Amino acid sequence: MRTDTGQVFRLEDYRPTAYLIPETDLTFRLDGDRTQVTARLTVERRAETGREVPLVLDGDGLALDDLLIDGEPLPAEAYDATPDRLIIRRLPRTGRFELTIVTDVEPAANKALMGLYVSNGVYCTQCEAEGFRRITYYLDRPDVLSTYRVRIEARKEEAPLLLSNGNPVEAGDLKDGWHYAVWHDPHPKPSYLFALVAGDLGGIHDEFVTASGRRVKLGIYVEHGKEPLAAYAMDALKRSMRWDEERFGREYDLDVFNIVAVSDFNMGAMENKGLNVFNDKYVLADPETATDTDYANIEAIIAHEYFHNWTGNRITCRDWFQLCLKEGLTVYRDHEFSADQRSRAVKRIAEVRTLKAHQFPEDQGPLAHPVRPRRYREINNFYTATVYEKGSEVVRMIHTILGPDHFRAGMDLYFARHDGQAVTIEDFLKCFEEASGKDLSQFALWYHQAGTPHVGVSARYDAKAKEFTLEIEQSVPPTPSESRKRLMHIPLAFGLVGPNGQDMEYESAEGAAIENGVIHLRKRRHIVQFKGVSARPVISLNRGFSAPVTLSLEARAEDQFFLARHDSDLFSRWQALNTLFTQALVDASTQIRRGGKPDFDKALLNYPAEIAADGNLEAAYRALALALPAEADIAREIGSNIDPDAIGAARDMLRAAIGKEAEPTFANVYDQMRNDGAFSPDAESAGRRALRNVLLEYLSAGSAEPALATQQFRTARSMTERAAALNVLAHQFVGSEDAHEALASFEKRYNDNPLVLDKWFVVQATIPGRETVDLVRKLMLHPAFSITNPNRVRSLIGGFASSNQTGFHRADGEGYRFLAETILKVEENNPQVAARLAIAFRSWRSLEKSRQEQARAALSDMARRPNLSRDLRDILERTIA
Ligand code: TRP
Ligand code: ZN
Repeated sequence: MRTDTGQVFRLEDYRPTAYLIPETDLTFRLDGDRTQVTARLTVERRAETGREVPLVLDGDGLALDDLLIDGEPLPAEAYDATPDRLIIRRLPRTGRFELTIVTDVEPAANKALMGLYVSNGVYCTQCEAEGFRRITYYLDRPDVLSTYRVRIEARKEEAPLLLSNGNPVEAGDLKDGWHYAVWHDPHPKPSYLFALVAGDLGGIHDEFVTASGRRVKLGIYVEHGKEPLAAYAMDALKRSMRWDEERFGREYDLDVFNIVAVSDFNMGAMENKGLNVFNDKYVLADPETATDTDYANIEAIIAHEYFHNWTGNRITCRDWFQLCLKEGLTVYRDHEFSADQRSRAVKRIAEVRTLKAHQFPEDQGPLAHPVRPRRYREINNFYTATVYEKGSEVVRMIHTILGPDHFRAGMDLYFARHDGQAVTIEDFLKCFEEASGKDLSQFALWYHQAGTPHVGVSARYDAKAKEFTLEIEQSVPPTPSESRKRLMHIPLAFGLVGPNGQDMEYESAEGAAIENGVIHLRKRRHIVQFKGVSARPVISLNRGFSAPVTLSLEARAEDQFFLARHDSDLFSRWQALNTLFTQALVDASTQIRRGGKPDFDKALLNYPAEIAADGNLEAAYRALALALPAEADIAREIGSNIDPDAIGAARDMLRAAIGKEAEPTFANVYDQMRNDGAFSPDAESAGRRALRNVLLEYLSAGSAEPALATQQFRTARSMTERAAALNVLAHQFVGSEDAHEALASFEKRYNDNPLVLDKWFVVQATIPGRETVDLVRKLMLHPAFSITNPNRVRSLIGGFASSNQTGFHRADGEGYRFLAETILKVEENNPQVAARLAIAFRSWRSLEKSRQEQARAALSDMARRPNLSRDLRDILERTIA
């Protein structure tokens, strides 16, 4: 494990390398205990580099076996090799030479899952961000582009399948039962996109013909016997390839495209050129084992990794500070893809819910950082919701500000101008400025300034003058190491909703630039005056979540109900109802804390039945509209001095109250949404299941009877139905016979399927209440649990820490102590996953006093340990600071 040296990397220190590596030739002789890696690098000294400048290569825990220049062994005094660095001082006079480096690695012992490792008997690599240096010494940074030729040698029996980037060139047998394959990737790429896979896997194959007629062989490789489970992923891949041609004019550029599913993987998937490697969770699906959410995730992640081929691979990042250049943009592209494949409004609501659940707390806590950070200690810790999700929102705002035509022109210019380069956010923005003629300098602050901007609004209508006035004020709260903020350019899509529910016309507007239904805030305060407004409108603001801000609007509850019923923007209808729910839950939890009993507004209790039965709305939309804000959403709204128990109790009460009030309608719609035909994962069918499952939650809470959930559990014909019923039984009927039986039967049925048992772990880890920490401890001893498998750890430990508000935040601090002790165990093998678990502590300062003390103690206890990994120390120190 690499321990922390405290070094900080800064954007302003960027310098190009003194040397280049135009060609990289790698030979692997694969063995679990000792794999020999021979790297033959063509090294070129830049014209401006002096001869005396040493060549400094990155390493991470490497052992050097051999070192040659132009075929001649190097004398010991010519270089200096440590596990983390290779410095070569005496270099040839010629500006170009061949450097041969032989290293030894131990893939079977690699539990950090970075570099070359073995997962389930399959050799695979993960090089982003800095894993390549665990394989060989290299200029392991994204601005060093090289063409790769890779030769893999392996025992034929152990690894009949040998894959790497690019196109296959050659393959054949060797002596003693070994064989080899050679791959060549003609597209220069940074080392983080290198990949190798070797093992005994099954595959499914297909073909895609690109718009210009290139035939591409597609392959998806999975564990033998699981081939049929990859069919949906293959379909999603072909749809992604077509969509990128149609929407962005981007074609695929190799003869083959391969995807491999592995079971030990630190993240979702990886976009290695021509050879995407996936967490098997995001490839394998069938109705028996996958939920509709799993299907949607597979579709989105297959698309995401494929889209990286242009946004990330053909055009890559100059340095890791520019991570959002590829990630934010590619998330934006996969969001648009899913919106086109499914329902745009439903997709947008789901995106915003994710953004608020993950990115807002990050931006409002100790780990806040700009979309493009200026400093980091450990880059692994910057694969964050801010870089990915807020990064995508920033691209979406460019689209909003420029309009579709100029946006597309900007993207086209970006692809044409920077193909084959490693570039920056400035390069990216410049393309949009040139294509549109618009000045984006103030807008660029979205990349540079951390924190969620706040927009406060008040509205008044003067009936006599027929004038409607909005007073809008922006502020950006201070974040770590940025106390003073500059004013942002905030695009707010809006409508003045008239008494009939239609958007009203107006004669003129002053006080801010308004274009195509968007108010552009640029100053601290704008007074926007609309003239010629014939009746009092209700303002619908930040439609479609056009800007990732928090908004406070002095609005009467009846105006919110009016928008929830009538706004022409479906997102805003959802937002209005969500605001009503949130406010009611905030008030109720305050009452509970004061020892009172909450009393919910009749109008709020009546409205859900109306939504549930509204056949003009898609089922998926109704499901989202009816979903109560999560406990963490309510906590965020309260802001400080949080008592998770009061919030949990308030939410339970509102759910039961609505369930009782709406019972006849809900029961009716629950029956209507039944699906008797064959299973289909399409959006429409998934929406019906989603609505039915939300109603099941309400009906169970309203009746306090497990019978309906038990019936659904027993008769379920898909995992979506079964898992939802299990969830209701386990969470609402804690300790009941029905819950117990369902959990046991689920365990038995999926005993040999780790991905499904993950769902079983999550359901139990998220059972509300103080007892759950003991259950989680017990489940860690379950034979299916493994502390070295990231999916298991994320399900059981991550599920508990990040999704169980009353369990994790148990008042006596036992949840915190459990997490701290488990993080340290995970860290022994996998620092990256350990650091990610520690993020669950990030909002600790917003808790009530005694929980704050307990959380601080658990954090300090971890931080006191010697030899912490750079990953974990970085998170801990920023969290405690
Ligand atoms: N580039 C990957 C993606 O967003 C992310 C990723 C996969 C990653 N594996 C990783 C990042 C390991 C850091 C470490 O698609
Ligand atoms: Zn990505």
